[in-house]
Amino acid sequence: MTKDQPEILLEDDAGVARAAELLGEGRLVALPTETVYGLAADARSDIACARIFDAKGRPRFNPLIVHVSDLAAAEALAAVSPLARDLAGAFWPGPLTLVLPLREGHGLSPLVTAGLGTVALRVPAHPTAQALLSAFGGPLAAPSANPSGRISPTTAAHVVEGLGAQVAAILDAGPCAVGLESTILAPGEASVRLLREGGLPRDAIEAMTGPLLDDTTPGKVQAPGQLSSHYAPSVPLIINSDLSDGHAVTIGFTAADGGDLSLSQSGDLVEAAANLFGHLHAAETLAVSEGKPAIHIAPVPETGLGRAINDRLRRAAAPRT
Ligand code: TXA
Ligand code: MG
Repeated sequence: MTKDQPEILLEDDAGVARAAELLGEGRLVALPTETVYGLAADARSDIACARIFDAKGRPRFNPLIVHVSDLAAAEALAAVSPLARDLAGAFWPGPLTLVLPLREGHGLSPLVTAGLGTVALRVPAHPTAQALLSAFGGPLAAPSANPSGRISPTTAAHVVEGLGAQVAAILDAGPCAVGLESTILAPGEASVRLLREGGLPRDAIEAMTGPLLDDTTPGKVQAPGQLSSHYAPSVPLIINSDLSDGHAVTIGFTAADGGDLSLSQSGDLVEAAANLFGHLHAAETLAVSEGKPAIHIAPVPETGLGRAINDRLRRAAAPRT
């Protein structure tokens, strides 16, 4: 008999040990991080990494983010330039991914790097992610734990809803604190390219590096977070500051916008980011149960984390291709 639900593991020593054991067998485990839940697999195993693409229904072998426990573990896989080291020193562990040149003998599956000469590395801050990385003792490839193109998961329930038993187990650590995927940077010799806006606000980075070079154009890098349609609910999403359409499920930024839901009652962008994907999941469920044909959402101010929130909204609202 095949089971149709994943094992739900508590974030205690026994849960972490069981998750590490499953990963060692080449199975998939949903991993809580401070950004979103990841679909983790042994980054050195071709079969385990192939299961990630199969479970997500990813149309192509796009490169995956690799999670490691610290800078020393990152240096075993990639060449870390002085500029990259400064960024890591300032923002790791945390919601930052660095794209770095691969080191000889890195041992990663070619499915992780998609044949590129670089690898995207991240040191997560979440204590359960750190506990699993040390129990497993190796690098973990983990894209967001959602079917390809759909809303990213910020709770264990979102993972069950999207992937079911395609994931062997879920380490349940409650809702993710940041709620947006990591910011992705590619540090060069003297300048830094921004590949994806995310949970680490651009201004915090620019205070250290000076202006970032924008490289977030849809279609330029053929990777999921950069596709123009992504993070999408099953019901059409429309960005509209007028939420008075009674036929739609409505999400306001603040309570003053008067939607069915608000991203943050008081207009706090950090709270709005943490609520974004959960509210999109809830609005989708509400639209389906009430037979409403669309979700209308108000945009947020284009400052701090608001840039990454609006980026996700534009992609979720883009025409589906
Ligand atoms: O917060 C996050 O980053 C989450 C959590 C689970 O850590 N992970 C995540 O992974 O969002 P994923 O697979 O959904 O996004 C991977 C992104 C791709 O969109 C791609 O842009 C970038 O990582 N990427 C990976 N390898 C790359 C490379 N070698 N060069 C450029 N971009 C790369
Ligand atoms: Mg994703």
